[in-house]
Amino acid sequence: MIERNLGELRVLDSPGELAAALAVAFADDAFEAIQSRGAFFVALAGGTTPKNAYRLLADQPLRSRIDWNRVFIYFGDERCVPPDSAESNYRMAYDALLQAVNLPADHVHRMRGEDDPLAAAREYEQLLIQTMGDLPRFDLVMLGMGTDGHTASLFPGTDPRTDNDRLVRAPYVEKLGAYRITITPRVINNARRVVVAAEGLSKAPAVYAVREGPYDPVVHPIQVVEPRDGRLTWLIDRAAAAELSG
Ligand code: 6PG
Repeated sequence: MIERNLGELRVLDSPGELAAALAVAFADDAFEAIQSRGAFFVALAGGTTPKNAYRLLADQPLRSRIDWNRVFIYFGDERCVPPDSAESNYRMAYDALLQAVNLPADHVHRMRGEDDPLAAAREYEQLLIQTMGDLPRFDLVMLGMGTDGHTASLFPGTDPRTDNDRLVRAPYVEKLGAYRITITPRVINNARRVVVAAEGLSKAPAVYAVREGPYDPVVHPIQVVEPRDGRLTWLIDRAAAAELSG
């Protein structure tokens, strides 16, 4: 039987409360990191779930609780599209958060979705090494989860633990018919804290399968997310928790 660290599970009553909990987790982690280490390094999640939490962080009271000059923004994954594309995770974060907080421009590190995927992955890996060292240790990695149990751009069908000596990879995702750029489990699991946010009834089967079903990261890649010596928190709403036994 594989001993698993499922982390802390918080079930929030609504998507609004989930967004608030996610935003407060970000703000609390930022405050602690800046207080104790002088800077906050965070890898943002893409997709739609975190959008409302980003908006809360861009607004008062949370915005002024964070010293944005000491925040360094990275991304967990990106679609292979230009930064102004409606599909871009960077654009989603820019519109919801980054445009509202006066971060120094060189504190925001987007993955270059407009470039050749492999070249963009290699470039981002070099950027991580140059700015955070050979094995980056984020203060916070934010993740979402797809209905198929993917996270970042680690999709079912490929063992997410392959070529784990890399920090960033550019998988071709069959089901999307597209390349993606993603940080690897090696980076995710080296974080001080990982927060997974999932909401809605469509995520309930995957939440159950991932947390209470058999361990098989090829089928449910998010099952590899087990920070080596960091804190793991799952924030889900009641709808996403519908199939859990607890
Ligand atoms: C992406 C994300 C991806 C996302 C999940 C959940 O690029 O799409 O990084 O991993 O977190 O697909 O997406 P939703 O939040 O839109 O359900």
